[in-house]
Formats: sequence, C-alpha cells, structure tokens
Amino acid sequence: MHTRATSPEPPTGGISVNVSQIVVGCKLSIQKSEVPDEKTFQRAEILMIRSNENPELNLYYVHYIGFNKRLDEWVTFNRLKLDDVEFPKPTKTSKKKAAAHATTTSIDGTPPPENLRKRKRQIDSTPQTPVPLPLPHLADMPSGSPMPNEILKRKTETNDEEKKDLESIDQLELLPTFSKEKEIEKLRTSGSMTQCVAEIARVKNINSIEIGQHLVDTWYFSPYPEEFTRSLLVYICEFCLEPFGSKRCFQRHRLKCTLQHPPGNEIYRKDDLSFFEIDGRKQKRWCRNLCLLSKLFLDHKTLYYDVDPFLFYVMTKTDKLGCHLVGYFSKEKESAENYNVACILTLPQYQRKGFGKLLISFSYELSKTEGKTGSPEKPLSDLGLLSYRSYWIDTILAYLYNHKGETSINEISRVTSITNDDVLHTLQTLDLLRYYKGSFIICLSDKNIEYHEKNMKKKRVTIDPECLKWTPPHFTASQLRFI
Ligand code: ACO
Ligand code: ZN
Repeated sequence: MHTRATSPEPPTGGISVNVSQIVVGCKLSIQKSEVPDEKTFQRAEILMIRSNENPELNLYYVHYIGFNKRLDEWVTFNRLKLDDVEFPKPTKTSKKKAAAHATTTSIDGTPPPENLRKRKRQIDSTPQTPVPLPLPHLADMPSGSPMPNEILKRKTETNDEEKKDLESIDQLELLPTFSKEKEIEKLRTSGSMTQCVAEIARVKNINSIEIGQHLVDTWYFSPYPEEFTRSLLVYICEFCLEPFGSKRCFQRHRLKCTLQHPPGNEIYRKDDLSFFEIDGRKQKRWCRNLCLLSKLFLDHKTLYYDVDPFLFYVMTKTDKLGCHLVGYFSKEKESAENYNVACILTLPQYQRKGFGKLLISFSYELSKTEGKTGSPEKPLSDLGLLSYRSYWIDTILAYLYNHKGETSINEISRVTSITNDDVLHTLQTLDLLRYYKGSFIICLSDKNIEYHEKNMKKKRVTIDPECLKWTPPHFTASQLRFI
C-alpha cells in the first residue's frame, strides 16, 4: 500500500512516497525480477527517468548498489518499492537539476527496453551474477605444514564450483595471510593510462546488438554516434564491425561487404582457432569499430579514437563463412610500464568457455617470444581480475608440479613471462610461501596438488606455441610518435 506524502518538500530519508515524487538520485528497493510472484528486492539508485504524463508509465534506469554497473537496467513503475525511499541530500541546485533531468529525458515514443527481452531469438545476456568467487578450490585450504615441493596425492574433496555463481567480490573470503581489500585496490586502481572516470557515461545508450548469429544485450555505455543510439538495437557487421541503425541498411551492406576475417596478418592457426595481428595505425577504422564494440562490455577503459599506439590481437573461430570474432586484446606498441595487454575482451556470446584464458595465455606466449615479462594494464575489471588470477594460479601450479629440484620467483617469472610481482602475489594468494631457517621457501601443499590434478583432467583447448608464426614487430622512433 502506498501512502501519500503531505509535505510539498521532497522527503529526505527512508519514507513512503508516491511514484510522482521519485526523482533522480532516490535510493529505494527494486524488485529484481519481472516475475510478479518472485519478490526479491535489491537496493538501487535511480539514475534516469523517462517520464510520461501518467507517472505509472514512467521508466526508471536503476543502478543496484554494491553491484557491477553492467546489471543496471530500465525498470517499470511496478517494480519500485515505495515504502522506504531515501532522497538525495538537497543541495542548492539539486531541485532544479532533478526537474531539468526529468524533462530532458521524457519519453520519446520508443517501446520500453524490456520489450527486447521478449524476443524469441537467442539472447546472449549479461551474466546475472555480479561477481563470482575467484578461488573456489583454494580459498578454503588449510595451510597445513607441507615440506618444500612435497608432492602427496590424496582424494579430492568436495567441489564447491557452484558457489562461484552467486558470490559478490565484496564477499570474497580469501586466505587469511592476504588482504583482499588491498589487493583489489591495488589491481583496480594503480596507474591506468586510459582510464578517465569523468568520461564514463552512467546510462547505457544501446540496449542490444545483433552481430553474426547472435543477439547480445549490452552492458555499458559506448560512444557510438547518436544516429545509432536512437534505435534500441544496433546491427554490427561481424567482419568489418561497421554499425547500422536499421536492418535494411545492414542487409544492404552485407550484400557488398567482402571482408571475411580481421584485416591483418594471421599469426596463429590451430584447428578452427586463429589469431590476427592488426596495427591500429594501418587499420584505424576497423580498430575504432572494435573499440566502440568492446566499450559496450568494458566499463573503465576509454580508448576509442586513439588507436595508433596499439596492436590488436584478434581471436577468431573459422567456419565456411569466414573467421568469426570471438575476442581480442590490445597491446601498446611500446609500454613504459611493461604491460603486455591494454584491454582484453571475450564477446559475451563466447564467455565462460575458456576463451578469456586462451587470450591471456596467447598474450604471455607473445611475451615469451619477445623474451620479456609482462602484466595486464591496471585497473582490471572484476571479470578481468578473476580470469587473470585463475590463469596465474593454473600456470604457476603447473610449473611447480612439473619442476624437479630448486626454483625461485625469478625462475618462475623467466619461464612463464609472468612478472615477479604477479608471481609473488599469486604465491601469497595460494599461501605457498613459508619462512624456513631464515628465508622464504615455496611449498606445494596437498590441496594445491589435488587442485592441479583435477584441473589437468578438464578438457581444454590450449595455445600451441608451435603454431605461432610471429616475430615481434619493431617500430622506429618516428613510427612511435603519435599525435
Ligand atoms: N562468473 C564466474 N566466473 C567467471 C565469470 C563469471 N561471469 N567469467 C569468467 N569467470 C572465471 C571462469 O570460471 C574462469 O575461471 P576457471 O578457469 O578457474 O574456472 C576464468 O574466470 C576465465 O574464464 P574464461 O571462460 O577463460 O574467460 P571469458 O572468456 O569469460 O573471458 C573476460 C574473461 C575476458 C574477462 C570476459 O569476462 C570479458 O570480456 N569481460 C568484459 C570485459 C572485461 O572486463 N575485460 C577485462 C578488463 S581488464 C583489462 O582489460 C586489462
Ligand atoms: Zn561489413
């Protein structure tokens, strides 16, 4: 039951209101699902309102507090819980702003975005879980008292993989020796070259894209030209990556488009998996299109037009129609910080199938060929952090498991091309470092061994270094001058 507030002033905290009083900045509970019987509520902030003469037909763009922005969505009035609304703290200008916002975003006759979800075609959507648990198998390992490089085989314990799906990064329970807050802070915030928070728009401008055979719900704002953002669905040519606002224009384009693979050198091929190397300076338009596309799924990187300083390594799967884009990573031609990846993305329709770790593995193969170590550019996204951490753990455990005799952090770093810092950090995360007779030693515990042996049994496509045909490109000083 909704009660009406009698005060003409906007209320200021935790009270019942009617729908017409809701303004941008209000915090309230939102019914998570559209299913009427399912009454799970989540606290959210109103970021935008598409108002209608009848406020009950308004649409509200909401951000779920404490959850990743990719779960932000438009909701209808009936999903708002109006009995515990917190209003934004009034400032001198806030009243004016709120009023202006409501009018500038008034409904423009477009159908509600929710309509799109009712399409019959396959929809590849955002993972509905904010952030999963990164170390499900290792997080709850007791430290025990293992001997250096001791290898014991025991029965594998319960698999708690299920947990992964439901945990938020804020609820991570990592090893006691390791501060999750510090690590996340460090990984997410240190020294990004492309981050510019001010530029990141808060409200998604495109709801879904059609690319190849896939209809994909987008996650974030991307600065596509306005003409494309008027329609809720943007068509993207899967080969040249050009966007189209209407199906007719897109179909006309498809009749003319001759591209069947990314416009660069194929530097790796095994079975149906290929990698192409593309120079941002030579293929500006294609690379800009790729950046615009990837921004729909990347929240914190703002590289769209300045593609010259980057090489793009694009992973495809081949069939009789061509080489279909699966994912990519970009890499600075020259990185002062020793980064071997700037941005990395698996298109949502291919996610959680191991392609992200293949991309990461490929980036380290390139570093090995260069004879260097490398690390991804910070900040990492939540999913980036999960994937990298999992790759580092797998790689370092595999090395320790197979290595006979003494080793060191430097040696692990040399063989894997993972930086000393990332190796050290992973060893700490795994609780593998022990203080022994005045110095630190690396100890592999039973749990680590069980984890690794179980991991090896999983059928996974891996990068075969034999199939990489690549010499590191060299650029002259003038080629590295980007204006
Ligand atoms: N929920 C739970 N676990 C997940 C999820 C998820 N949504 N996504 C990935 N994982 C885990 C996997 O279980 C796997 O771990 P495991 O091998 O220990 O089981 C690991 O992360 C990697 O999974 P992959 O299937 O190999 O990775 P995927 O193809 O899904 O790609 C990527 C990972 C590239 C991060 C993808 O999620 C993505 O493109 N996200 C959007 C863009 C992004 O955030 N990029 C990283 C930014 S940081 C940077 O650019 C340097
Ligand atoms: Zn095309």
